[in-house]
Formats: sequence, C-alpha cells, structure tokens
Amino acid sequence: MFNNPLRKRQYIGSLIGIIIGVATYVILPMKASEDFLSLGPMNTGHEDLSCNACHTDAKGNLMQQLTTNMQYAVGMRKESVPFGTQDIDNKKCLACHDRPNDRHPTHRFLETKFKDAIKKINATECETCHTEHHGVRVVLDDATFCVNCHSDLKVIDDPIDVPHEELIANKQWTTCLQCHDFHGNHVYKTATKIKDTLSLDAISAYLEGGEDPFTSKKKYYPTSEEEWIKQNEKKTK
Ligand code: HEC
Ligand code: HEC
Ligand code: HEC
Ligand code: HEC
Ligand code: HEC
Repeated sequence: MFNNPLRKRQYIGSLIGIIIGVATYVILPMKASEDFLSLGPMNTGHEDLSCNACHTDAKGNLMQQLTTNMQYAVGMRKESVPFGTQDIDNKKCLACHDRPNDRHPTHRFLETKFKDAIKKINATECETCHTEHHGVRVVLDDATFCVNCHSDLKVIDDPIDVPHEELIANKQWTTCLQCHDFHGNHVYKTATKIKDTLSLDAISAYLEGGEDPFTSKKKYYPTSEEEWIKQNEKKTK
C-alpha cells in the first residue's frame, strides 16, 4: 500500500493528528465533564443558560479552557489556564441583571463606612449570596443578615403595628424579609401589620429556589441569553 515512504509518513502523521483531534475535542472534555458531575445543579432560573454565559472571557470560552487544561493534564502543554471562579465577577451577572432600582447595589458597599459590615457579610459581591451550582436562589442559611447594617435603624412615622424599633430591640431579624424583598425589584405593597406578613416557610422555600412569595411582577426582568448574545455581538463589532 505504501510504496512511497513519504506517503506513509504523511499517512501516519495525519492519523495521529486525527486521533489527537478526536481526543481533545470529544474524549477529554467528556472526561472533564465527570468533574462537573460533582458540581451541583444550576441555580433557579439558570437551568437553560449555556456555560459561556458566565464562563467566557478574553482567554477563551469554557470549552477552550477545558481543552487547554486537559492538554496540560496529559502533558501536551506546560501550563494550565485559570478556570471558573476568577473570571466571574459582578459584571458578568449585571450584564443580564442590571436593576437601576436596586436598593442594595453592590457598588454602594465599597464605601469605607461599610468596612466593618462587609467583613461580616460581603455585600459587594453577588457571589456571597448567590453562589452558583448549588441549585438554589440564595445560598445564605438564614435570612437574618440585615442585622449587619440595620441594627440602629430608626423609621420616622413608622407605619407598622409593631414598630421597627421594637422588632430590632427584640432581635426579630427574621421578620425583615417577611415584609421586604432585598433588592426592591418586586412590584408589591409592603405589609404594615405583622399578621399580614409572608410566612417564614414561604421565605425559606423561596431562598432555596422555590416559588416567589412576593409576586411574579418585577420592575426589571433579566436579559435572556438570546438578547445577551445580541448585545455582545453589537459590542464586539
Ligand atoms: C449563571 C452563571 C454561571 C453559569 C451559567 C455556569 N456557571 Fe460555572 N460557575 C459560576 C460561578 C459564579 C462559579 C464560581 C463558584 C461558585 O459560585 O459556585 C462557577 C464555578 C464553576 C466551576 C468550578 C471552577 C473552579 O475553578 O472552581 C466549574 C468547573 C464550572 N463552574 C463549570 C460550569 C459548566 C460546565 C457550566 C455549564 C453547564 C457552568 N459552569 C455554567 C457561574 C456559572
Ligand atoms: C445571560 C444572562 C444571565 C447571566 C449572565 C446571569 N443570569 Fe441570572 N438569570 C437570567 C435569567 C434569564 C433568569 C431567569 C429569570 C426568570 O426565570 O424569570 C435568571 C435568574 C436568576 C436568579 C433568580 C431570579 C428570580 O426570578 O428569582 C438569580 C438570583 C440570578 N439569576 C442571579 C445571577 C447571578 C448572581 C449571576 C452571575 C453569577 C447571574 N444571575 C448571571 C439570566 C442571566
Ligand atoms: C447580601 C446578599 C445579597 C447580595 C450581595 C446580592 N443578592 Fe441578590 N438576592 C438576595 C436575597 C436575600 C434575595 C431574595 C429577596 C429578593 O427577591 O430581593 C435576592 C434576590 C435576587 C434576585 C431575584 C429578585 C429580583 O431582584 O429580581 C436576583 C435576580 C438577584 N438577587 C441578583 C443579584 C445580583 C446580580 C447580585 C450582584 C450584583 C446580587 N443579587 C447580590 C441577596 C443578595
Ligand atoms: C451591607 C449592608 C446592608 C445589609 C446587609 C442590608 N442593608 Fe438594607 N440598606 C442598606 C443601606 C446602606 C440602605 C440605604 C439607606 C439610605 O440610603 O439611607 C439600605 C436600605 C434599605 C431599605 C430602604 C430602601 C428605600 O429605598 O427606602 C430597606 C427596606 C432595607 N434596606 C431592607 C433590608 C433588609 C430586609 C435586609 C436584610 C434582608 C437588608 N436591608 C440588609 C444596607 C444594608
Ligand atoms: C410588617 C412589615 C414590616 C416588617 C416586619 C419590617 N418592615 Fe421595614 N418597613 C415596612 C414598611 C411598611 C415601611 C415603610 C416604607 C415602605 O412602605 O417600604 C418600612 C420601612 C423600612 C425601611 C426604610 C426606612 C426609611 O426611613 O425609609 C427600612 C430600612 C426597613 N423598613 C428595614 C426593615 C428591617 C431591617 C426589618 C427587620 C428588623 C424590617 N424593616 C421589618 C414594613 C416592615
């Protein structure tokens, strides 16, 4: 078949090329996907997002990062590339979740007066409360973190039947989310009577990823992936 040794070398050469190609693009990522099985499910609302919606950066998309790291793992490359965490900052999230009405915008808490509060709860990062791949909406165990910033709250002409001052004096920090959402994006009327508040069960089911007890009406809705891709195309043109 190979009378010509040059043809033979070319043949073997391209065969090796094909094998490496298949291995890098099919088998190796499959192997890597085993690692993903240890990642939890996507958070509420993110089930249909592609990995690149959050994991893209100038150094290539997730698949490219994976390929590079796999090549590193089998000795084809000298260095691995950073992956995941490092690249995902607030900007990635705000590309789809910019809510100009946010009453707790992350950038606000960069002010030095929040330095001590931020040590207890880092409200400058979405990730503190919304860590991804846990199949939840909010990762905080309890909803009492308002204590870190509102312990000396005074509400003038307080409209509620048990005034804020009293709730706070009695350390009833679980009640806050029973009346107030955190970002202020829900369109609803805040209760003024303790008997009309949302139940703690409904709140914790919501934080864990369940039904939204406030209302399904929002002032701002997130950008869909389709729309996000369009916006990115416009920017890179
Ligand atoms: C909505 C944004 C988002 C999407 C979509 C997303 N991820 Fe992530 N991913 C994150 C964030 C944020 C982290 C950092 C750790 C954390 O918050 O859990 C992360 C961490 C990871 C890590 C761990 C990285 C490390 O260095 O520890 C891997 C692996 C990963 N993601 C893979 C994937 C895959 C595969 C997909 C698609 C099925 C995907 N991610 C989709 C946000 C996202
Ligand atoms: C490509 C756009 C996109 C990116 C990037 C993105 N999201 Fe989302 N997010 C969505 C969409 C779409 C939904 C689903 C909204 C729905 O179901 O109504 C959602 C849902 C959510 C929800 C639940 C919303 C609800 O209605 O209760 C939270 C919390 C959230 N995202 C936080 C984040 C965080 C934190 C990041 C950054 C790590 C992020 N998202 C990145 C598009 C995005
Ligand atoms: C200190 C904790 C904390 C931080 C930081 C935080 N969130 Fe939230 N987030 C919450 C809580 C608690 C809820 C549930 C109450 C509510 O709906 O406002 C929530 C709900 C949401 C929702 C669903 C309700 C809505 O507003 O439409 C989205 C989307 C969301 N967060 C996105 C983000 C993004 C994006 C960031 C970063 C820019 C962020 N969050 C930072 C605690 C936090
Ligand atoms: C990291 C600090 C911090 C945390 C944690 C925090 N807040 Fe706030 N909150 C603020 C600041 C700062 C303001 C703005 C006050 C101002 O502008 O005078 C504010 C304002 C508010 C407002 C009034 C918004 C308006 O437009 O009138 C409500 C309601 C509120 N927070 C509820 C909560 C609830 C409920 C929690 C817990 C789930 C919480 N906050 C956690 C710092 C925080
Ligand atoms: C029974 C419902 C209810 C509970 C419980 C409640 N609030 Fe309020 N809160 C209100 C109402 C009503 C207002 C008036 C403004 C409005 O309608 O949002 C208000 C106002 C506020 C304001 C704005 C104050 C201002 O001067 O503008 C902050 C901040 C606040 N609440 C934080 C909290 C915190 C923190 C907790 C938990 C200790 C809490 N609230 C518990 C109903 C409630």
